[in-house]
Amino acid sequence: MDGMTALAPSSPHAPLAIGPHTVQPPVVLAPMAGITNAPFRTLCREFSGGKGLFVSEMITTRALVERNEKTMQLIHFDATETPRSIQLYGVDPVTVGKAVRMIVDEDLADHIDLNFGCPVPKVTRKGGGSVLPYKRPLLRAILHEAVGNAGDLPVTMKMRKGIDDDHITFLDAGRIAVEEGVTAIALHGRTAAQHYGGTADWDAIARLKEHVPEIPVLGNGDIWCAEDALRMMRETGCDGVVVGRGCLGRPWLFGDLVAAFEGGGEPAAPTLREVAEVMVRHATLLGEWIGDESRGVVDFRKHVAWYLKGFSVGSEMRKRLAVTSSLDELGAQLSELDLDQSWPVGADGPRGRTSGNNRVVLPDGWLKDPYDCAGVGEDAELDTSGG
Ligand SMILES: Cc1cc2nc3c(=O)[nH]c(=O)nc-3n(C[C@H](O)[C@H](O)[C@H](O)COP(=O)(O)O)c2cc1C
Repeated sequence: MDGMTALAPSSPHAPLAIGPHTVQPPVVLAPMAGITNAPFRTLCREFSGGKGLFVSEMITTRALVERNEKTMQLIHFDATETPRSIQLYGVDPVTVGKAVRMIVDEDLADHIDLNFGCPVPKVTRKGGGSVLPYKRPLLRAILHEAVGNAGDLPVTMKMRKGIDDDHITFLDAGRIAVEEGVTAIALHGRTAAQHYGGTADWDAIARLKEHVPEIPVLGNGDIWCAEDALRMMRETGCDGVVVGRGCLGRPWLFGDLVAAFEGGGEPAAPTLREVAEVMVRHATLLGEWIGDESRGVVDFRKHVAWYLKGFSVGSEMRKRLAVTSSLDELGAQLSELDLDQSWPVGADGPRGRTSGNNRVVLPDGWLKDPYDCAGVGEDAELDTSGG
């Protein structure tokens, strides 16, 4: 990793403490619905040598307390996963409290993260996700119930800057989080209106760090390679980084991150042959997790384009790979590729969703009064967890 000067001497990176859990180096896999299930977390962990923190996809609190079948599968952790990090999404303080209590009583996780970052219309239209922190008392009530029911489990939160540039919430939300006993905060440096467009505002991460010096602040947004992670630490003073889309089709990024933070050399980028091996392993793990090989391969289809990004693979073959339904078929098709290709120039850049500047759909009158929480109710909960 020539030229990667680890961290500036003025900002030695202390181990990140998430309650009793030490995360060293301070790298966290971002929760991603439909992606960060046990198989994907396992892959990332294998590349990181077990270092880092790997958060589940979001679990809807109502579905959890109702023991929805799909949700009960989503909360499954592999035996090797420790600490077990679960992300909850909820809008009703009582339901969030019950879900947290259930996790504690049934020993379902070691760390709970709360999602206040979701920008999708089906969530914001009901006042949930990234628009919820606008209603300060509601945010406080949810955090209060979560922390109050969590016993010794650390509770963290993940949020965006606000609804849009005219309705910025992250500083108020950070202060409320500290007052309610939240252990750490992750900030995605975008507003809900931005979705995934533009560039993440790392200055906002620095401002949050100054605003809530009492607890760790994790920076999130636009870390595409290990050097980006070190730069975010240097430029913002944050205590750790949360990496999302950069890992899509690239779970070995976690190995790169660990090497960079430890000041080691940069692992060689994989050839297409090595990428193909990871693809088969990913699909295999999904099949084992689902309990059905074919469904595992079908679920894996969404990852194919990410894994092959930048490689010279014809459109006909890409189409065929996107409709495979058995491991044999997947392996056979991959073996037809020119597997000696080296890692493509430019494939380290942005991947996954990058569009933005959408109008945020809000409940009627939502912006009138940040302190009036009437009208936000149970029906704002989603029925299902994950993507
Ligand atoms: C497919 C996808 C699913 C996501 N699901 C979640 C989620 O369940 N919970 C959450 O807090 N954020 C979710 N996010 C947001 C990411 O955790 C992260 O904040 C965002 O992608 C910005 O980080 P990045 O630039 O490193 O990707 C999702 C993002 C993507 C692309």
